[in-house]
Amino acid sequence: MPGLLLGDVFPNFEAETTTGRIKMHDFLGNSWGILFSHPRDFTPVCTTELACAASISEQFRKRDVKMIALSIDSVEDHRNWSKDVMAFAGDQAESPLPFPIIADDKRELSVQLGMLDPDERDKDGMPLTARCVFVIGPDKKLKLSILYPATTGRNFDELLRVIDSLQLTAQKKVATPVNWKPGEKVMVIPSLSDAEAAVHFPQGMTCKELPSGKKYLRYTQL
Ligand code: BEZ
Repeated sequence: MPGLLLGDVFPNFEAETTTGRIKMHDFLGNSWGILFSHPRDFTPVCTTELACAASISEQFRKRDVKMIALSIDSVEDHRNWSKDVMAFAGDQAESPLPFPIIADDKRELSVQLGMLDPDERDKDGMPLTARCVFVIGPDKKLKLSILYPATTGRNFDELLRVIDSLQLTAQKKVATPVNWKPGEKVMVIPSLSDAEAAVHFPQGMTCKELPSGKKYLRYTQL
């Protein structure tokens, strides 16, 4: 059964979170959103990830991206775990996590969103959640999904980088090349003719000569 595909409207589920009950679309409002799931509370890799996410939350806020985490434990566990996370992040354990955590102790959302990792199980043999990342656009559609197994922690700098790419390519007819970082040259998308590109990019383009003679590797500086 296919899971959530790019371009699908993100499910407007209701859930209990550390900051109260939410309806996902209301939570997102007109902003971008990022939902990242975790296998379990009080686990080491998850704690490092959430602490990192908390410490760079201002970077997501600046990009108008609402953050929300999910783990298959209760709100009460999430609240207690948040204190460990904030202490690990180097903050006062009493300062609140700067984003909510969804409680999915019945694994309903994890099943609905295709987030279970069949290779990682709890002591009762139940599968844990994988490390999913969903980036949702202001139109509530899925713009990006990444799926890591429970045993591999994510790179949150990479998540900021892909959000920069998504937000740029949502506005301009460009794509970002390998290892692109903000401020570097971007590529003119293949569906744009040279004549159309000249209108969109009056600053000009450079085209890389290739053995095929085809002129498809077109760079521009925004
Ligand atoms: C962790 O967060 O450390 C973790 C959770 C489940 C499986 C492996 C690692």
